[in-house]
Amino acid sequence: MNSELRGEYLAALGLTDWRRRAAAAAANLSAAQRCGPHPAGPAPSAVDPISAPQGREGAFDWPQLRARVAACTRCGLSATRTQTVFGVGNLQADWLILGEAPGADEDRLGEPFVGRAGQLLNSMLRAVGLAREQVYIANVLKCRPPGNRDPNPSEAAECLPYLERQIALLKPKIMLAVGRIAAQNLLRTDKTLGSLRQQVHRFGASRVPLIVTYHPAYLLRTPADKRKTWEDLKFAREVSERV
Ligand code: URA
Repeated sequence: MNSELRGEYLAALGLTDWRRRAAAAAANLSAAQRCGPHPAGPAPSAVDPISAPQGREGAFDWPQLRARVAACTRCGLSATRTQTVFGVGNLQADWLILGEAPGADEDRLGEPFVGRAGQLLNSMLRAVGLAREQVYIANVLKCRPPGNRDPNPSEAAECLPYLERQIALLKPKIMLAVGRIAAQNLLRTDKTLGSLRQQVHRFGASRVPLIVTYHPAYLLRTPADKRKTWEDLKFAREVSERV
């Protein structure tokens, strides 16, 4: 992406006075995004994803996992959702972006981050040279909590095997957790978001690097923290280039 275009995205982030530094950063940007297919994992089982017993997700391929999630009734959110929100993006993505849970727009459309927060997320990604189509985007929860309340621990626990399988299939180089709820659930901590930023955490057995930053919905309410988010995104990009 040329520096003029990046400047436009930074402007959308409210960071116009950062253009020059962004242009310098762009010069350091590795042009090479990994685009080949990932090495094949174990062959998917022939199991029926709907009727298979709980715990079999670890053997599912993408279509089986998607079908399993769409049919999920493991927690009470299945009674109030319009539809599940599985995730979207490039199955060869290096970056996995993780939010908290679908909101009203996502529940209606079946895709994560499609509302105003999603537009800002797209701009944030663009600012570090990533198109939405290049990354994979999902949430810790696949169903909308009524009224956008925080997910409760049992809902997050029931949903986690789906995300773990998504991560195993995707094999991302880096994960970006946006917002406190995603970060705390993924890292199994109750630390504040501020204390989790600017560190390389590791997720699960695969030890995928995980970076934490602010949620775009929070940034819409608190634009002063967009600068810190820009620092986090640059940090994430540096980490991804080291992996
Ligand atoms: N907020 C989230 O955390 N995820 C979405 O998909 C939309 C809004």
